[in-house]
Amino acid sequence: MSLTPGVFALTDLITAQLEELKKEVLTCRNCSLREGCQQVVFGEGYPGLLVIGEGPGADEDRLGRPFVGKAGQLLDKILAAGGFDRNKNAYIANVVKCRPPGNRVPTPAESLACLPHLHAQMRILQPKIVLLLGATALRSVLQSTEGITKARGKWQEREGVFYLPTYHPAALLRDPRRKIDVWADIQVLVKKYRELVDPAHYSPYC
Ligand code: URA
Repeated sequence: MSLTPGVFALTDLITAQLEELKKEVLTCRNCSLREGCQQVVFGEGYPGLLVIGEGPGADEDRLGRPFVGKAGQLLDKILAAGGFDRNKNAYIANVVKCRPPGNRVPTPAESLACLPHLHAQMRILQPKIVLLLGATALRSVLQSTEGITKARGKWQEREGVFYLPTYHPAALLRDPRRKIDVWADIQVLVKKYRELVDPAHYSPYC
């Protein structure tokens, strides 16, 4: 159901299901990351596009929300360029819900332990299109051994869901030359989103 063109209603049922799942995830002790972080960062947003990052950093751990630090601000701009917004038509989640100490990359065991939560989020949100940010998301979600540089910008379909890997915004902060590739990926993303999800999807630039 659309509230206004391109705006997906986060129905009461989906809200209730996500709240129920969140309660469960808040008590999770599947790995030891919860011992070293301040709070669980469950995810937030609206059905439409699902965006998956790696794991919370210091800002996210402090505020309990995904992608709210520097990389998050850049992510919001990238999504906005494609007409996506976490307050409207994008849901932001991470592979691991608890901050790894010192922002290290989550271990494969930690990612595996947390993956059932992401799968449960996906069962509720039922995305047709998923944007994977960086190598950890690519490796954990698709069990891919391909590097992100090779995989980015190419669709991978699994059980009717289309996954598009791209660079993590933190990588763009380290090397802004990669922004041009991400821009190309966003254009590819918008095209598919119009095909599969919302033909009337509005994007300011593509
Ligand atoms: N990086 C991530 O992968 N996720 C966040 O939530 C923040 C930074």
